[in-house]
Formats: sequence, structure tokens, C-alpha cells
Amino acid sequence: MEKIVGVKGMNDLLPQQAPVWEWVEQTVAEVFRSYGYQAIRTPIVEPTALFVRGIGEVTDIVEKEMYSFTDALNGERLTLRPENTAAVVRACIEHNLLYDGPRRLWYVGPMFRHERPQKGRYRQFHQFGAEALGFAQPSLDAEQLLLVWRLWAALGIAPADRPVLHLNSLGDLSERLAHREALVAYFTKASDRLDTDSQRRLQTNPLRILDSKNPDMADLIAGAPTLSSFLGAASKAHQDAVCEALGRAGVPFQMNDRLVRGLDYYNLTVFEWVTDRLGAQGTVCGGGRYDTLVEQMGGKPAPACGFAIGVERLIALLEEVAPVQPKPATDLYLVHFGDQSEAAALQLAEHLRSEGLRVVMHSGAASLKSQMKKADASGAWLAAIQGDEERQAGTMVLKPLRAGPDQAGQQSVPLAEAAGLAKKMIEQQRMQSRA
Ligand code: HAM
Repeated sequence: MEKIVGVKGMNDLLPQQAPVWEWVEQTVAEVFRSYGYQAIRTPIVEPTALFVRGIGEVTDIVEKEMYSFTDALNGERLTLRPENTAAVVRACIEHNLLYDGPRRLWYVGPMFRHERPQKGRYRQFHQFGAEALGFAQPSLDAEQLLLVWRLWAALGIAPADRPVLHLNSLGDLSERLAHREALVAYFTKASDRLDTDSQRRLQTNPLRILDSKNPDMADLIAGAPTLSSFLGAASKAHQDAVCEALGRAGVPFQMNDRLVRGLDYYNLTVFEWVTDRLGAQGTVCGGGRYDTLVEQMGGKPAPACGFAIGVERLIALLEEVAPVQPKPATDLYLVHFGDQSEAAALQLAEHLRSEGLRVVMHSGAASLKSQMKKADASGAWLAAIQGDEERQAGTMVLKPLRAGPDQAGQQSVPLAEAAGLAKKMIEQQRMQSRA
């Protein structure tokens, strides 16, 4: 039979990688909780119109990256979510979540974009995201940036290895329109130097021309008018307040007036955390303010700010700069042999689990030597061994698998004392592995 392989750009998370993912997920969840963020889970599939309206019609995501299809049963147009901000906003409006006041929400889950796969860029990838809705103050933008900074620390990334924070302000709508007019005038004058994509964008979304990677246009783009010279007093004050809060907290950042982001819902603060350790796909986190999105999606106006972290990129960065050493997920590998040993071992394993131990029992008959090999490979702290002799005596043998040379070796122990001794032996090995 021919093999069926997975979809290009969509990855399996294999058991050997799972402990790191689990540890990162737990660490991130704890940091979110410590800032008062509550979890929210929305469906992976949403009406296509949600993303078209939310992200913007003339964006790469909506123009060419969405997995959209027609529901064969009712003809509805649906899309696998390419991001989650629009969906969280939809859920808040639909369930009236902002009725009692502002909300801090977080999520983790898969997103889907039909991009050209390469290292760090996948068609199914995962995001940790935070959305704070109902907050207008720049202190909230700053708080989110401090949260991300704290997260790098919680994940064990040393300050010098952390992604660099790039910050910009997109101002308000009238400021952006004035800037847009200036951009159109500038690029129209030089329209013979624009590539086809940019010619088209001149009419639809001239800001995106600034994002072009075409080297022939680099000079032209470098000389284009920047939005910062169009910002009014209120936008400047907001930006200054964010920068001052970062300064007071000692979080380094760079102003980057070329930072525009690939989604249309942003205003005022936008940011990206970028690392140079991952090659071309170095943006680990991106976000900003979206004060008009809730209203645009049909809700009562509510200012908001959020960000999302790419989990694959974050884990790739950890592998480079702060490798995670996952602790063994198994305490005890139960080795058994002799008459009827499997039935007795099944019972014994249940007993040990009731005592709070994580137990993997050897399945099937095999020699002591081969079972001990399996015990070692399982990553468990201890092997618990029971043959006919031990069974008759009501005992078992506990053998440390990760002990240093000066630690006690195996010990025979009555069943009633086995769990207590096992815990002690695990703790000894743990202490030594830390030393
Ligand atoms: P985004 O910049 O499109 O923003 O994505 C956020 C992060 O997701 C990126 O910085 C990157 O780490 C990761 N990412 C994006 N595309 C891929 C891909 N194809 N493969 C691997 N990782 C990827 C958003 O999605 C906004 N919803 C963020 C936000 C939340 N803004 C306000 N609230």
C-alpha cells in the first residue's frame, strides 16, 4: 500500500518534543495568569467574512493565505482561522463579555496560513495570544510589553539573548490618511520604479508598499515620508507614555518608524519582538493597539490592545539560547517476571499510582536484562523489580536509574514501604541532578 503523508507545512508534534511544548505552555499560562488574563477558546473555523472585515481585504493574509471553503451542507463560506484577534472580538461581542467592564483574555492554539513553508514559517502554526479589551490607557500597552519581557525571563532566556522590541505608532485614522496621501503623491511621482505588486497597492493599500522586499525599490522606500511626522499631540503623548513606562522598567526597545504590521486593524502602538538567531523568520511576537476593531465588528466601541507569539519560533529560539531539560515524566518503570507476574504487576502499579507515583508497567514477558534496558530508555527515575521471590516475600527491589557514583544502589523493600522509599530515592537523584 502507498503511504499517506501529512499536509505540507503542517507538523506533527512528536512525543520527544512534547515535554518541551508542555513546559513552555505551562510557563506561559502562569505568566498570563499572573497579569489577570483569563483563558478563552474559540473555534478553529469561522465565517470567512469575519477575517475579511477584521484583518482587511487588501492584506496578504486575506488576499492569498486563507484556507477558505464552502460548507457543502449549507453553502456557508468558512475559513480556518489565520489569526485569533478577530475571533476573540467576535466572541466578546456575541457573549457580551465587555458588559461588566474591561477584560484581559489569553489563548493558545493552531492558526492556518497558506504561505510558502520554510524554517519558522508553516501552514499550520501555533500562537500564544493576549487580548485586553476595554482599555484605552497607554499603561495597558506598556503592561503587555512588560508581560512579554517577564515571559522571556520565565523561559530562562538571558537578557542578551532576548528578542529585541521594535516599537512604532500608527497614529489615528486622520493621521494615517494624511500620511497615505503623502505616500501616494510620493510613489505616484516615481511610479515607473514600482513593481507590479506595488503599482496595484498604490491604488489599494499604499502603506504595504513599504513592506516590499524588492531590492530594486529599497532606495525609493527608504526615502518615503514616514508616519511619525504626521502624528498629532494625542498620538505622540500616548507613544511617549509607553516609552517612558518601558524606560522606568528597564525594558530595552528600538523605535522603528518602518514597522507597519500585516493586518489592517492597528492604530497607535504597534510592536514586534525580533531575534537574529532564527534566520529570516525572526519575528517571535507581534501586536499592538486596535481601538476601532470591536466597533467595526458590530460591538459597542471598546479600545483594545493585544499580541501573539509564534510557538514554533519561540521553541526554536529556546533550542538556540536556553535549551529546556525536561524532567523525567515517569517515576517508576515496573519490571516483573515469574508466574502470573503480569496480573500481580497490574495491581501493584495501580497501588503505586494511588500513592502518587507515575508508573509505567512493562507489558508482556521478557528477560530481566531486556526489561531493565526498557526501564532505562523510558527515562524513569527508578526501576521497581518484582520476580517470584519478591512476590512471595511481599517485597520489591527499587533500583535508581539516574544516580551518581556515590549514591546508594538498589534496595529491597516491603510493599507497604515501597512508595515512601521510592519518593525518597527520586528526591535524592533530583537533588544530585541539580547539583
Ligand atoms: P502576526 O504578526 O500575524 O499577528 O502573528 C504573530 C506571530 O505568529 C508572528 O510574530 C510569528 O511569530 C507567528 N507566525 C505568524 N505566521 C506564522 C507562520 N506562517 N508560521 C509560524 N509562525 C507564524 C497576529 O496574528 C495578530 N493576531 C497578533 C495580535 C493579537 N495583534 C493584536 N492582538
